[in-house]
Amino acid sequence: MKTILLGPNGQLGSDIFCKNLREGEPLSIKPVDRSIVDLTDLDATSRFLQGADFKCLINCSSYHKTDEVEQNPELAFKINAHLVRKLSEICLKKNARFVHVSTDYVFGGQQKRQPLTELDAKAPINIYGASKSMGEDFAMRSGADVLVLRVASLFGVAGASGKGGNFVETMIRVGKEKGKLSVVADQFMSPTATADVAGVIIQMLRFGVPSGIWNIVNSNSATWYEFAQRIIERAGICASVMPISSAEFPTPAKRPPYSVLDNAKITAAIGPMRPWQDALDAYLIAKGHRAN
Ligand SMILES: NC(=O)c1ccc[n+]([C@@H]2O[C@H](COP(=O)([O-])OP(=O)(O)OC[C@H]3O[C@@H](n4cnc5c(N)ncnc54)[C@H](OP(=O)(O)O)[C@@H]3O)[C@@H](O)[C@H]2O)c1
Repeated sequence: MKTILLGPNGQLGSDIFCKNLREGEPLSIKPVDRSIVDLTDLDATSRFLQGADFKCLINCSSYHKTDEVEQNPELAFKINAHLVRKLSEICLKKNARFVHVSTDYVFGGQQKRQPLTELDAKAPINIYGASKSMGEDFAMRSGADVLVLRVASLFGVAGASGKGGNFVETMIRVGKEKGKLSVVADQFMSPTATADVAGVIIQMLRFGVPSGIWNIVNSNSATWYEFAQRIIERAGICASVMPISSAEFPTPAKRPPYSVLDNAKITAAIGPMRPWQDALDAYLIAKGHRAN
């Protein structure tokens, strides 16, 4: 399937590209990075895509520096929402499948404290979440063959280019430098390896799963404190990890107190996703933080 991949150098995009190569290229991927088209230029992006030959478009691009976004809502809605509307319209015209990557941050304001399914009503509590939520809506209402994939708390070997690293690397660096960490223990989420999301995306496209919203996260949940504890322990770093409350760590953007995603739908479609603890071990080995 001729596929265009937007955001190919990012944490998730680079894993999709590499995994596809390792699997013998089930998707014929053309990576389209910023040097080819700047996605903030919606007209140039449209022209480029309208002239391109593809049957599938995977969008891993995003403006997702959550705190910075609070000061730049215009750019956030441009990339995370209006660009997505354009992309889905082009896919509709070209009869191409559109895979759009979204986030657990479309949640946060809901009352529910049980894993959130694809059917639960969204309730974003920051501008990043609101912009991604609007992007989802544009895509879902476009009439195109759309897969909206909600991922969460990503860690991948490339590190998020948009964020300058990822949580695992930050914990390891600060743990080594300071010997102690204070991490919020009242936000529950689904830590997820981009390597695993990449594999699932390729399988979804091969199996031709039906269009719609899909939660794509590793199994099990954690607070950021529990996640940090596990990282420090499994990377063999001599550092203490202290639990703190969100009130003790104020940030410009509010974070969801609960955004754990239920992955039962993808499990039923293509099989279970491994626990994040196993995915973390694999990541630490791949990055040379653990010998085995
Ligand atoms: N990271 C997380 O913890 C997390 C959590 C939930 C959901 N998500 C979602 O998962 C997806 C992938 O995240 P990620 O961590 O892989 O992100 P990432 O590493 O920051 O990658 C984003 C990609 O988008 C590209 N991009 C951004 N603005 C662009 C522009 N104006 N023109 C062209 N390319 C542009 C970046 O290009 P450059 O490399 O040139 O900057 C980069 O390749 C995103 O949709 C994000 O919202 C991420």
